[in-house]
Amino acid sequence: MAGKITFTIIKPRAVSKGFAGPILNKISESGFKISALKMLQLTRKEAETFYEVHRERPFYNELVEFMISGPIVVGILEKENAVEAYRRLIGATDPAKAEEGTIRKLYAESVQANAVHGSDSDENAAIEAAFFFASSERF
Ligand code: CMP
Repeated sequence: MAGKITFTIIKPRAVSKGFAGPILNKISESGFKISALKMLQLTRKEAETFYEVHRERPFYNELVEFMISGPIVVGILEKENAVEAYRRLIGATDPAKAEEGTIRKLYAESVQANAVHGSDSDENAAIEAAFFFASSERF
């Protein structure tokens, strides 16, 4: 059965350009309940751990550098079939291929600075949510 939560990161470039508010608004308007939210700056070690699955990829070091370059906003989003619904809302990883009206089409610059992260499975949503939020921070 499809899960009810997904996890998102609003990435450094989108935050520094002032897009966190508009992106959160779009998330709410699209019917997601925001059940956890905070702004923080990742340490290198945290970013390396979070993106561990991509360690062997050629873009790994660049990705880590980018993700620690400034504050991010992380959140847990609730909706029926949340993972798939949010992936539809954010659009393709490469904003050039993202559909009109999606968050990445509206706010992303490039594959790396692609505005937001969204979990790719229920299992990863649970792991990623737990990585950032204590149970006392989840509502
Ligand atoms: P995200 O959903 O955060 O998960 C992994 C990230 O790696 C992805 O979004 C992109 O920002 C980044 N990424 C994926 N492919 C590439 C690529 N070819 N070059 C640079 N960054 C990439």
